[in-house]
Amino acid sequence: MERVKTGVEGLDRILGGGVPRGSSVLVTGGTGTGKTTLSMQFLMEGLQNGENCLLVTCEEEPRRLYMEMKQLGWDFEKFEKDGRLIVIDAASTKAGMPTATTYKDFQPRSANIDMDLVVLIGKAIREYNVKRVVLDSVPALALRVGKPEALRELLFRVYSMLERFDCTSFVVTEIPEGEGFLSRYGVEEFLSSGVIKLSLQREGGKWVRKIQVVKMRGTSHDLNEHVFEITKEGIKLKD
Ligand SMILES: Nc1ncnc2c1ncn2[C@@H]1O[C@H](COP(=O)(O)OP(=O)(O)OP(=O)(O)O)[C@@H](O)[C@H]1O
Ligand SMILES: [Mg+2]
Repeated sequence: MERVKTGVEGLDRILGGGVPRGSSVLVTGGTGTGKTTLSMQFLMEGLQNGENCLLVTCEEEPRRLYMEMKQLGWDFEKFEKDGRLIVIDAASTKAGMPTATTYKDFQPRSANIDMDLVVLIGKAIREYNVKRVVLDSVPALALRVGKPEALRELLFRVYSMLERFDCTSFVVTEIPEGEGFLSRYGVEEFLSSGVIKLSLQREGGKWVRKIQVVKMRGTSHDLNEHVFEITKEGIKLKD
């Protein structure tokens, strides 16, 4: 089976070489656990290796996100200008602002972005032969969708499309505080072929970051939690 490197060496190791090509991986965890960082590191790995990538950002406005990522040494803006990173900026739509990216045609227009988004994702993938996709995040997207059934329908269609075009994707969601679920809407983990869980845990009087591969269809993997740090070069596993 063909593997796709995640950009995090330690994570590739516990996955036995990377995620199976075509996987849709759910990145889940509480607030500030590193979900966006992990997803962007996955995109940067693709960009640096010649793959065109698609970022669907519903939470953070692209310019701001690029600024944060620059602190980790990643220049996403350059790849956007080169036409290698395609951006669907639903975050600016949310604020009622025009996108500052080069992809004006790809910005959802209406307040209710449901099917608009499915069409735009499909168009981006086909036009640019995209192989890696990040959607950050499902809860931010849900704010723009009327009913829970509409969100389910939307996610189902997005996942089907990613599968059809053999894209490998990281989709971000969140774990509601203090509950035993893996995701906010309880549907994301079933649609996904893999689940990576990030957390902050108290150990011996201090807080540590942990990462766990909860599921990955089509491969055996390490099930243990591993300690990681967010360093100047991004996410690094300690063991
Ligand atoms: N340059 C940096 N160097 C080291 N650590 C950083 C750096 N930038 C951010 N961090 C850490 O990463 C955390 C944020 O990570 P990230 O944005 O990936 O989390 P998230 O899970 O996406 O959060 P949110 O719930 O807000 O979406 C910060 O709270 C901070 O602790
Ligand atoms: Mg985030």
